[in-house]
Amino acid sequence: MIRTIRWENNALCFLDQTLLPLEERYVTTSDYRVVAEAIRRLQVRGAPLIGVAAAYGLCLGALEAAGLDREGFFRFLARVDGELRGTRPTAVNLFWALDRMGKVWRSLEAQEASVDTVVERLIKEAQAMEEEDVCTNERIARFGAQLFADGDRILTHCNAGALACVQWGTALGTIHWAFLKEGKRLTVYADETRPLLQGARLTAFELQKSGIPVTVICDNMAGFLMSRGEIDKVIVGADRIALNGDFANKIGTYTVALLAHYHRIPFYVAAPLSSVDFDALNGQAIPIEERNREEVILWGGRQISPSGVGVRNPAFDVTPWSLVSALVTEEGVLYPPFLEKFEEIKRKKKGG
Ligand code: MRU
Repeated sequence: MIRTIRWENNALCFLDQTLLPLEERYVTTSDYRVVAEAIRRLQVRGAPLIGVAAAYGLCLGALEAAGLDREGFFRFLARVDGELRGTRPTAVNLFWALDRMGKVWRSLEAQEASVDTVVERLIKEAQAMEEEDVCTNERIARFGAQLFADGDRILTHCNAGALACVQWGTALGTIHWAFLKEGKRLTVYADETRPLLQGARLTAFELQKSGIPVTVICDNMAGFLMSRGEIDKVIVGADRIALNGDFANKIGTYTVALLAHYHRIPFYVAAPLSSVDFDALNGQAIPIEERNREEVILWGGRQISPSGVGVRNPAFDVTPWSLVSALVTEEGVLYPPFLEKFEEIKRKKKGG
């Protein structure tokens, strides 16, 4: 299975996803600015992977600043943290990961630990996050696989696969587990996912590589297939889940959820608990990234709309919890309503 990211000899090596599926090229860097830019440009993308990449970005910043005096070192770290936070606003895993790294370096700063100790501990923390991501996704995959029956035809939107994580993936992890480990004969429909085509490029690439039958459709074809009884289930990932279960995912997810609801097709979400924003009461509190106009009006580098035309490019939308049939996490499958369940998890987290 694809591995998207590796830490090697104090450098970060990541798969450049903008080149897929035509080219599988890994970029190795020891510059945190390259990591920040890779997140911004979606060379590295998908909520869980953005989190791990940002954690390693901070490690690169720490290595770069290791020659400075203590004060300068921590000032530099705070600046790197701020730059990484500014790359993409919606996936909460970015902030979750940097908060976790922040706890490490700020507590060591308070303990007056040496710069070398801080660097070493930050690298250890990022490596722990990388490994946890693999275990978490494996658990999600196992739980989620139970939702599928032999012969299911499953629709997915965007890419919530191994490419969006360190390994396995969330939504696609469940499909992989059911297909490869449980021998269920599944077929996947991948929405192309305009404007950046994560479905057509990445989901299709990943499933084909694993030998799972996959068919690409344009985003506006899902309703037709559902109306003809050709879709049995839908599963997607999430970039940020609010306390009540409303969740943000790639633009177009909300439309798919509405279509599934109308056609009485189960609509599942698979995500780690690190994608839950326990401070966001509902979907209104989720910041939505707006990206540049060129992504919409250029097609393969060629302009497809008149110059000067108005363009909107929100990268995510919010689906209300009431359209979700079940939410698969590493702690098991949750069924709506979600509010009390998340409040309980939040209480436990605070207590622990
Ligand atoms: O803009 P992207 O490609 O980073 O958006 C990715 C998604 O919307 C995924 O569905 C989400 O991050 C879940 S990934 C396990």
